[in-house]
Amino acid sequence: MLICEDIYKSFGGIELLRGIGFEVKEKDFVAIVGPSGSGKTTLLMILVGLIKPDKGKVYFMEKEITSMKESDIESIRRKYIGVVFQEPNLFSYMTAKENVECCANLTNAFNKGEVEKIFSDLDIEEIKNRKVKHLSGGEKQRVSLARALSKKPKLLIADEPTANLDYENTKRMLNLLLKLRDDYNIALVVATHDSVVVEKANKVVEIRRG
Ligand SMILES: Nc1ncnc2c1ncn2[C@@H]1O[C@H](COP(=O)(O)OP(=O)(O)OP(=O)(O)O)[C@@H](O)[C@H]1O
Ligand SMILES: [Mg+2]
Repeated sequence: MLICEDIYKSFGGIELLRGIGFEVKEKDFVAIVGPSGSGKTTLLMILVGLIKPDKGKVYFMEKEITSMKESDIESIRRKYIGVVFQEPNLFSYMTAKENVECCANLTNAFNKGEVEKIFSDLDIEEIKNRKVKHLSGGEKQRVSLARALSKKPKLLIADEPTANLDYENTKRMLNLLLKLRDDYNIALVVATHDSVVVEKANKVVEIRRG
C-alpha cells in the first residue's frame, strides 16, 4: 500500500534521515521509533506528502506521491489517509463532535452510529458536546484520532497518539486501533516512545541520531 524508498532529509546541514526504506502492507502496524529530535515527525510528514524529501521516493497505492503536485497529493490524503498530528489541530471553538462530523462527510466514511461507537471506545462520549478549547491534551488527542478514523481511511498515520494518555487510555486506544485494523483493513503507522505500543507492532522502523 505504501512504499518508502531510500529517504534522505536534512535541515540546515544536519542530516536527519539517511536512507530510510520500508513497506506498509494492508493490516500492517508499523512503529516508528527513535529519540526525540531524530526525525520521526519529519518522516511521517514525508510519508503523507507534506514535506518533500531531499532524495528518495514514496509510493502510495502504486502512485509516486513524491513527484505529484500538491493538489493531487491532497486529494489522495483526503480520501485515503487519516493523520493524527503530534499537536492536535482541531477547531477550538467547535465541539468535539462537530470537529469529527465536519471531516466525516466523505463517501467511504463511517456512519453516525459507527462514529458514536468510536467515541465510546475512546472514552470521550461524555465530552463530545464540549468545546475543544476546554479539553485536556489527552482528550484532544483522542478527538483528533476519532476525526482521523471517521473517514475510514486505508492508512492511519499517527504521531505519538498516546503521549498524553495514562496507561488505561493507552491500552484502550491501542485496542481500538488493532480492532479497526482487523475489521476494516486499516494499515497503521505510528511514531511512538511507548513500549506498550511498540510491542503490538509487526514492523519497527528505528531512526538513529548522529
Ligand atoms: N522545518 C524545519 N526546519 C528546520 N529544522 C527542522 C524543521 N523541522 C524539524 N526540524 C528539526 O529536525 C529535527 C527532527 O525533528 P522531528 O520533529 O522530526 O523529531 P521527532 O523525532 O519527531 O522528535 P520528538 O520525539 O520530540 O517529536 C529537530 O531537531 C527539529 O528541530
Ligand atoms: Mg515528533
